[in-house]
Amino acid sequence: EKVLWNDQIVTRDSVHISIEDRGYQFGDGIYEVVKVYNGDVFTATEHIDRLYASADKIGMAIPYTKDVLHHLIHQLIEANELGTGIVYLQVTRGHSPRNHAFPNPSVEAVVTGYTRESARPVQDLETGVSVCLVEDVRWLRCDIKSLNLLGNVMAKQQAVEKGCFEAVQHRGDVITEGSSSNAYGIKDGILYTHPVNNLILNGITRQVILDCCKEIGLPVVEKAFTVAQALEMDEFIVSSTGIEVMPVVKIEETQIGDGTPGEWTRKLQTAFEAKLP
Ligand code: PDD
Repeated sequence: EKVLWNDQIVTRDSVHISIEDRGYQFGDGIYEVVKVYNGDVFTATEHIDRLYASADKIGMAIPYTKDVLHHLIHQLIEANELGTGIVYLQVTRGHSPRNHAFPNPSVEAVVTGYTRESARPVQDLETGVSVCLVEDVRWLRCDIKSLNLLGNVMAKQQAVEKGCFEAVQHRGDVITEGSSSNAYGIKDGILYTHPVNNLILNGITRQVILDCCKEIGLPVVEKAFTVAQALEMDEFIVSSTGIEVMPVVKIEETQIGDGTPGEWTRKLQTAFEAKLP
């Protein structure tokens, strides 16, 4: 298995990460998960742009140009002969003696990446999934794709313990997003989703889905909706790079629609699939 270590493609065993790497000690870094379909990367530019935007938001420099990183991702996919799966990319602020403050002078960021084969979740996409509701206790910069995922991890574990596919989070009454996905409700022919601000990650899949809405003539309202409204939706969806347009047919004990994926969701899935490489 080949992995990315800084700007080199090397064997996994040859990577050495310091125990004082700031990603390891503070979660001081950022990441991306990019999907590969039959060897072709999907929305690579958008993911790379978001990685650089996240770096910028935490005052960190990625030591390569976007083009170089793009090229390295392709090399990594080829080196591992990846068919369908993901590329995980992570950048930390580097390693230096432990101190909360940024290293001064700054040190080189540490870049790692690897690939993993994973099939599309075709069964769940067909039948739909159930989700639970979890209070969103995360920090107020959820727009950054940060390595600090403890809030997300705790939320997802609650879902697992309840036998649910995903935890949909709410800050007070307002639905924000899933533990590792965006959330949408469809009511009377309108799709509602939380607006892009500091409380959610602006998912790349979300952006593709909003394009699909235009194509299929589904009006979008980027406005937060409440837990009570969520339970009354005709259709409900969670989305991410890995799960695409995932129908939700049950929220806690409440069935959504007739308990099967609704018509708009089906149309969105079809429009989404048409964009895949
Ligand atoms: N998670 N919101 C959160 C909190 C996420 O972690 C993710 C993705 C999304 C959807 O973003 P996108 O459509 O760009 O994948 C929304 C990735 C897949 C992960 O952590 O594995």
